[in-house]
Amino acid sequence: MKPGSARPPCRNPHLLRWVEKMAALCEPAAIHWVDGSKQEYDRLCAQLVAAGTFTRLNARRWPGCFHARSDPGDVARVEDRTFICSYSREAAGPNNQWMDPFEMRLKLRGLFRGAMRGRTMYVLPYSMGPVGSPLARIGVQLTDSPYVVVSMRIMARIGLPVFKIIDRDSVRVVPGLHSVGAPLAPGAKDVPWPCNPDKYIVHFPETREIWSYGSGYGGNALLGKKCFALRIASNLARDEGWLAEHMLILGVEDPQGEKTYVAAAFPSACGKTNFAMMIPPPAFQKQGWKIWTVGDDIAWLRPDAEGRLRAINPEAGFFGVAPGTSLRTNPNAMASLARNTIFTNTALTPDGGVWWEGMTDEPPAKCQDWQGNAWTPEIAKATGAKAAHPNSRFTAPAAQCPTIDPDWEKPEGVPISAIVFGGRRAATIPLIYQAFNWTAGVYVGATMGSEATAASTGTTGVLRRDPMAMKPFCGYHMGDYFRHWIAMQKRLSETPRIFHVNWFRKGADGKFLWPGFGDNMRVLKWIVDRSRGRALGRETPIGWMPRHEDLDWTGLKFSREAFEALQAVDRMAWRGEVMSHEELFIELHDRLPKEMIYERELLICRL
Ligand code: OXD
Ligand code: MN
Repeated sequence: MKPGSARPPCRNPHLLRWVEKMAALCEPAAIHWVDGSKQEYDRLCAQLVAAGTFTRLNARRWPGCFHARSDPGDVARVEDRTFICSYSREAAGPNNQWMDPFEMRLKLRGLFRGAMRGRTMYVLPYSMGPVGSPLARIGVQLTDSPYVVVSMRIMARIGLPVFKIIDRDSVRVVPGLHSVGAPLAPGAKDVPWPCNPDKYIVHFPETREIWSYGSGYGGNALLGKKCFALRIASNLARDEGWLAEHMLILGVEDPQGEKTYVAAAFPSACGKTNFAMMIPPPAFQKQGWKIWTVGDDIAWLRPDAEGRLRAINPEAGFFGVAPGTSLRTNPNAMASLARNTIFTNTALTPDGGVWWEGMTDEPPAKCQDWQGNAWTPEIAKATGAKAAHPNSRFTAPAAQCPTIDPDWEKPEGVPISAIVFGGRRAATIPLIYQAFNWTAGVYVGATMGSEATAASTGTTGVLRRDPMAMKPFCGYHMGDYFRHWIAMQKRLSETPRIFHVNWFRKGADGKFLWPGFGDNMRVLKWIVDRSRGRALGRETPIGWMPRHEDLDWTGLKFSREAFEALQAVDRMAWRGEVMSHEELFIELHDRLPKEMIYERELLICRL
């Protein structure tokens, strides 16, 4: 190792020993202990510009922003290279890829041996959740990617305050080792986006470790997000009696100034970020309704001393999908990403800006596409080439969101009154219904599903069951996860009400029946009023539903007939739906809690 490596700013002997051992394995040229300062961030960004990884954007139009282009083979999370290596295969469940932890460790040791040669190993301490919050948890990521360090400074709380907690409180730290898997030979020239075609995203749930190899992109590499805050945290949460969920959190302020917080789980491509930052229709704004954003992707929920469920957003930034984001669909996201943002795999415009499909009605006359090739609307018309990759992202500080909730960093979290599950369903599933009780609500979440969009898979309309939107993120057996959800009721003095929404139901003409976006506020108002016991509904076989007169239609003409079509419960179609729940249950049969069977039977009887 190079003499003169920066000195560790912490004394914790376990951490020091681990760093030493991992450095001996990976053989970096230098070690850099990350202090998290703005100066350090600026220095690393300048270094990334010099290396060709970053392009500094036009400082007048995009102040403090950078653009990065990844390797074309490293553009998304790699679910087929993601492993849960619990001691037993059964504990990981059929919902996860498993490999014997002993074998996997051998494999990883081979891959990581000398993997950081010629590079700097950054020691990056981070807190998921506000530093010092009783709901927060600490991780340390060792990484050879400066892109990861600067991205993590936006997405999490990092640096000296976290080292201080590790020293002072001797807290248990989740260790994460990350390498792009591209050692540099002496004198060799680096590429702008080093990575390795062989990728491994590995979790050891019992020892709470993460090992990530070969990718520099998003959830594969920013270990605080999916690896820690969902896969490892779901294990912590099960053991400690809380919930780590793939949920946004928003606050609804009513005209009396009272706030009601809602957590909502949607699979990808269902508009989660848009919902978290929704702007109510003008008539609602006039009445005094307002939406506040706490988080757009992950929620950690824990009962407080009084048995009320409280939630924090463990993240500090948004890692949002760029395409489709515009001043029309999500002005709050556009304001959030207007400065101090890192764009990855968007297009680059000749005036030093970024662009993506759907950002403006008129595309730029020319730009460089996400791979750096010349792109024009004419080329797009002839070849179908996209300017931005469909999974291109903005990494933006959450504090820049105009609707960020004043309490979003409250150490004790915000009280959750309602939980919403949703998916993209063209038929059968109504706009909104409320589950009869907690267990029925768990059944609703467990059986939720979404139809793939052409943009994500190319197989439009295929239904994928995605329990609680956690299929790729639950770090243990899904049957045990349902059991944990059911058992949570015993810890709660007041259970949040549980709802299901579907913004995507279509009529016989193939057109959406519901306008969506800001008008979702009408549904949200009913959810809030139901949770506060101030709205009526009618009982149906699947749950409670609003009647036409129970929703506020101010400013929107929506006939009773249209609403009834949107809310229709077709008993035959629902029987088919319930039959298809069976497929999921068969897969999980050995650990499926009996409540799921009873709920299904009750539903069949009511139908
Ligand atoms: C995400 C995802 O990036 O869910 O948030 O894939
Ligand atoms: Mn997500």
